[in-house]
Amino acid sequence: MRILLADDLAFTDAFEAALRAREPDVELYRWPSLPDDGHFDVLLAWCLPDGLRRLPDSLAFVFCFGAGADQLLSDPRIPSHVPIARLVDENQAAQIADYAAHVGFARLLDQVTVKEDQARALWSEADGPRRTRDQLRVAVLGLGHIGARVASELARLGFSVQGWSRSHKSVPGVETFAGEDGLVTAVEAADVLINLLPLTAETEDILSQKLFARLSSGAYVANLGRGGHLDEAALLGALESGRVGAAWLDAFRQEPLAPDHRFWSHPRITITPHLAGIPTASGAANSLADCIDAFRRGFPLPNLVRPGRI
Ligand code: GLV
Repeated sequence: MRILLADDLAFTDAFEAALRAREPDVELYRWPSLPDDGHFDVLLAWCLPDGLRRLPDSLAFVFCFGAGADQLLSDPRIPSHVPIARLVDENQAAQIADYAAHVGFARLLDQVTVKEDQARALWSEADGPRRTRDQLRVAVLGLGHIGARVASELARLGFSVQGWSRSHKSVPGVETFAGEDGLVTAVEAADVLINLLPLTAETEDILSQKLFARLSSGAYVANLGRGGHLDEAALLGALESGRVGAAWLDAFRQEPLAPDHRFWSHPRITITPHLAGIPTASGAANSLADCIDAFRRGFPLPNLVRPGRI
């Protein structure tokens, strides 16, 4: 079986060794290298390279080298009969849970106000007892593999966690909601909002002025989904009014974020360049090997985002 690796993060000896440990007979090519006849069976990519204009008829499936596959699902170069499966990596989910916990703890300490006071050498004494974790309401949007992991880790840490997803899901320790009405209830009076939804026509611009208006005053918002989830003007307005106290942004409509974008210099925005969760060599290799095993046995691929027709 020939696999075209078209993501720099997969160009590592550790990834190839972990994959070969499960699938010793695979032939691996690192884009832009291709087999002489141009045929391969599996394409691994997070985003198709510009130079890959036509995919061969031999292509059996695409393996999305990331948790979110919207950028592949909307790519017309992938014929609709080709299945797309995505990576599921516990280590990646754990990194994102760490990021979300960081934002939760930052809100507990009101880190942004602390930093602003420090910059002004302002000794601003506490005006009451500090909140405890269980008094902090955290809303997690999206309860897929990563969202559920994040929500349950935050609950395990003692935060009061509400989770929302399109269809109903149960997550231990988390109060869950679904549907339009459920969204309002899930985010009502939230002190921290973590977005981990997939980007679809329904979730585009979901981080809107209307949603921010439901949060508790000074809430911290983390967009760990896609740039398209965020109404940028609404965020700037909510920061201005104080409804949102601070934002952590990891994904952007245009990446890299343009050097003159307003977000870079905003004192209450922390920018991380799409690194909240990086697939790991072993997690990614095992997830791909699970797909190869299933394909070879004629079973449905695990973690399909588009079934296609095998
Ligand atoms: C990151 O954005 C991913 O899709 O894994």
